Amino acid sequence: MTPVEAPIPCTSSPKAMAETVRSCLSPASVVRENEPMARKTTLRVGGSADVWVEPASEKDLSAVLARTRDLGLPVVVIGRGSNLLVRDGGIRGVVISLGQPHFSGLRVEGDRLRCGAGVRLKTLAQEARKHGLARLEFLEGIPGTVGGALRMNAGAHGGTTFDVVVSVRVMDFGGNVREMAGTNMQARYRSCPMLRENVAIEALFQGLPDDKACVDGRMKEFNRRRWASQPAAPSAGCMFKNPEATPAGQLVDELGLKGTRVGGAVVSQEHGNFIVTDGQATSADVLALIGQIKAEVHQRRGIELETEVEVIGEESASP
Ligand code: EPU
Repeated sequence: MTPVEAPIPCTSSPKAMAETVRSCLSPASVVRENEPMARKTTLRVGGSADVWVEPASEKDLSAVLARTRDLGLPVVVIGRGSNLLVRDGGIRGVVISLGQPHFSGLRVEGDRLRCGAGVRLKTLAQEARKHGLARLEFLEGIPGTVGGALRMNAGAHGGTTFDVVVSVRVMDFGGNVREMAGTNMQARYRSCPMLRENVAIEALFQGLPDDKACVDGRMKEFNRRRWASQPAAPSAGCMFKNPEATPAGQLVDELGLKGTRVGGAVVSQEHGNFIVTDGQATSADVLALIGQIKAEVHQRRGIELETEVEVIGEESASP
């Protein structure tokens, strides 16, 4: 997710922006205006994106990046929207999703797997299991795509994405493509700053040959643990990064904040680091609840919580 700071031409309506973007892409690419982001994020809240683009190829991805740069339009690249909170006023400019089949290829190469940024982590983990390859089991229950997992260095059960990445093909905002070794991408806890200036297109993952039943067993155990401690209701996963001293979920729990509600957003009873939403929630509800939790934790424990979830977009014009 990469917001580019640049002024948007004030005369551009979403329709006009969509038309100009459409004119540089092949007909197979999808371009829509006023796309509701609540449908594109797992929290199920947020306003509309001015323009939504699903490029059909790398050539089209490069073309949309070039066109938006020339026009000074802000660009955001999103995956499955599982770690994203879009404000109620929506997103000015262009949102790009690598949801077309071109970005969803998956190929096993010996003990490695090469896959497009649009591939779901569940699919990647299951393919590894099918081929008796260990080390990718932890990815199975993370509700995201490869692109999003790289960008956030997503992790679970002691593993993080970059632990198993050999290399990543990236496109910069000028449309240039290069392959980078995972070890050179400076990934850290829940972040890969390189992917603020580059779009991940494809990655090569390293597995470890193992007995299929053992891989399967570990995956099932991770799943069991996840569902025993995490809610099934709409959420963005863990809302806060874990501070060094104490996991955020434990802090929220110890302070008795589970069940705290603002409008349609509520702190999960199952896990203190999850905010879940009902069908009526707004982004403002979620943001207000985040603010309350931060304030309580700061006041009572002296700890500054930092959101893990990316917050993007504009405040709503109406109160
Ligand atoms: N805990 C509580 N109360 C709660 C929640 C947790 O006391 O309501 C305690 C647990 O008992 C445990 C500790 O806090 O002792 C840590 O909890 P947990 O094992 O659930 O792990 P976590 O640190 O809260 C991390 C990741 C999750 C990932 C799990 C499982 C972060 C911020 N979160 O959660 O990732 O699924 O480990 O491996 O690093 C995400 O990033 O969105 C996410 C869900």
